[in-house]
Amino acid sequence: MENLKSTARANSNLALIKYWGKKDPKLFIPMNPNISFTLEGIYTTTTVEFSDSLEEDEVTIDGKEMEGGKKEKAVKHLNLIRKIAGKDLKAKVVSENNFPIAAGLASSASGFAALTVAATSALGLNLDEKQLSIISRQGSGSSSRSITGGFIEWKIGNTSEESYVEQIAPKDHWDLRDVIAIVAREEKKVSSRAGMAETVKNCPLYQARLEAINEYFPKMKKAILEKNFKTLGELTEHEALSMHACMMTTKPMILYWTPETIRVIKKIVEWREEGIQAYFTMDAGPNVHVITLSEQAEEVEKRLKEIEGVEKVYHCRVGDGARILEEHLF
Ligand code: PMV
Repeated sequence: MENLKSTARANSNLALIKYWGKKDPKLFIPMNPNISFTLEGIYTTTTVEFSDSLEEDEVTIDGKEMEGGKKEKAVKHLNLIRKIAGKDLKAKVVSENNFPIAAGLASSASGFAALTVAATSALGLNLDEKQLSIISRQGSGSSSRSITGGFIEWKIGNTSEESYVEQIAPKDHWDLRDVIAIVAREEKKVSSRAGMAETVKNCPLYQARLEAINEYFPKMKKAILEKNFKTLGELTEHEALSMHACMMTTKPMILYWTPETIRVIKKIVEWREEGIQAYFTMDAGPNVHVITLSEQAEEVEKRLKEIEGVEKVYHCRVGDGARILEEHLF
């Protein structure tokens, strides 16, 4: 019998221009183009084995067998990949994150990228990064950006085939750092999927956000290519605030911040006055990602650890895209 088993590892990623809203909710085509960099060191490892001895898909994440909604999302993604490969075998999926999911860091980006690469490889599909990103996107939008390393752009496109990611610059282009202040460990109450759908429908500021992105998207790309840290930082902060302003002015409101989030933001603004080059951004949660340059990253890390309410700090460089590993998890 063929050996239909593969293992892949994918890093998480951090958006500098965020994806928050779908133009096509079925195909996961985003409302706006977005930009990220892949994060070294925060990753998911996933082994997938397809076999005719299984009666249904089995999905285990961090030692826990999945049921309900979480399992359904993985099964739906496996169905898409089975359809592309023209195979109808059930799969055993074992996935491990090297960071606690409950830390509030996005696991869907690294998780779906690793699942996509492992499952397509196990079924013998030989796909390039563009094709992998198109598939991964349909499991979780942001995961499409974790397929590739370095600095990434996800194009909107009008069709599924046109909505894929491309590298803007490789990881060695610029030694940026993301120093992450973890301030909460609870699972969030409003998922990204539900939150962005509500925002698109019920936020009066949303259109203004999209118009602003048209203007600062090319500027962000240029800032990356020219390594203009001040412009990148200012655009990143403004962009995060625009997304959170939209969340907060959605009816009913979506508020991901806690008092600690604001405490960290204020500190960063103060540090800048002292000459520390650091800028903040937040995803759909209260944790604060602090973008800084390699020369000041240690200092930023030290200072973040001293802030009351900061439980843990992760320090990430720009990372590689998803890759196949020889060693399996089972
Ligand atoms: O792909 P999802 O459903 O996990 O949504 C990601 C949403 C944000 O993290 C807030 C923004 C982004 O572009 O990563």
